[in-house]
Amino acid sequence: MDAMLVTGGAGFIGSNFVRYALNRYPDTQVVVLDALTYAGNLSNLDDSKDSDRLRFIQGDIRDRSQVDEAMRGVEAVVNFAAESHVDRSILDPSSFIETNYNGVNVLLEAARRLEVKRFLQVSTDEVYGHVPAGLSAEGDPLAPRNPYAASKAAAELLAQSYYITYGLPVLITRGGNTVGPYQYPEKVLPLFITNALEYKPLPVYGDGSAVRSYLYVEDHCSAIDRVLRNGQPGSAYNVGTNCEVSGRDLADRVLEILDRPANLREFVPDRSGHDLRYALDCGRVQSLGWRPAFDFDTMLKGTVQWYVDHQPWWQEIRNEDSYRSYYRKQYHER
Ligand code: NAD
Ligand code: TYD
Repeated sequence: MDAMLVTGGAGFIGSNFVRYALNRYPDTQVVVLDALTYAGNLSNLDDSKDSDRLRFIQGDIRDRSQVDEAMRGVEAVVNFAAESHVDRSILDPSSFIETNYNGVNVLLEAARRLEVKRFLQVSTDEVYGHVPAGLSAEGDPLAPRNPYAASKAAAELLAQSYYITYGLPVLITRGGNTVGPYQYPEKVLPLFITNALEYKPLPVYGDGSAVRSYLYVEDHCSAIDRVLRNGQPGSAYNVGTNCEVSGRDLADRVLEILDRPANLREFVPDRSGHDLRYALDCGRVQSLGWRPAFDFDTMLKGTVQWYVDHQPWWQEIRNEDSYRSYYRKQYHER
């Protein structure tokens, strides 16, 4: 692959994917298109910025001319650009519809016109809705239950329609809860770690029994790469692990690793429509030869250590007015 476009490449998973692709494919050019919203951060790409194979364009996936400029000449598109946080989607869904649905429509139209060879839409296990028992397989109905998940499910259906109607080679990955370096400290693990480092309470929703299965970002990137190259167009691929960890246990583990008092764990009002469990059957992506390399303990300790070693990165974010005002709304005024 000579050139690929990575949208949302200055965010958490996107920036890790850019690093992964530049290292793994020494002949590939990577174009990044990112609007640098509150969650995008050019410094996430600092260690790749001197590469002459990386071109960064600040732009919006909803903007046709910016998308055309970024997509011209590439063979593949990997779309990470999204509003990505469930709690923000509950506070205000409109930007989620705008970017996650309308933005994907603009990308698909450009990909069709420019005859892109592979279009990978990065989606989420949240499209299945919550799964009280058993595992979700790719053929299961989509039953999203919050505005974020609904906007991602809608984007998938639109992408799938471009495969069926126009023959655009669309691939979809449905990833689990991803953790690791450069995750904006509003998702649960970086929020718990950075609060613990500052001796602030760790807010556990409801009774803390909701579970998530965590996936290390490097494993998520290798799965996306595998599907991009070897996946069957028109298919979706679950990507995850089966380590089920409750919110309560996650808080306890973080406090234990950082040697902070156990009473920093604090139960707070539950998320509205909280999905209590996601669980994936990953047989299809495994049949392409993908396996996760990191178990829960290793990813947890690795992630904690990264935040310990990169305090200026997250302190700058946490000092921004936009972060403080979100935190106040979500945790003090709700
Ligand atoms: P993130 O919020 O860290 O990054 C999103 C990036 O998209 C940011 O750099 C932001 O600036 C950019 N962006 C937002 N709106 C844009 C727009 N209109 N135009 C251009 N760029 C825009 O998100 P993330 O956690 O890295 O997630 C990346 C993708 O992976 C998303 O599509 C998300 O739905 C999906 N996903 C995330 C997880 C997870 O656990 N984080 C799990 C499964 C799937
Ligand atoms: P989150 O990281 O927002 O991911 P998801 O999109 O899967 O909901 O939340 C993961 C889990 O952690 C979920 O069960 C909600 C819970 N949680 C808390 O208990 N406290 C928090 O402050 C946050 C952000 C999440």
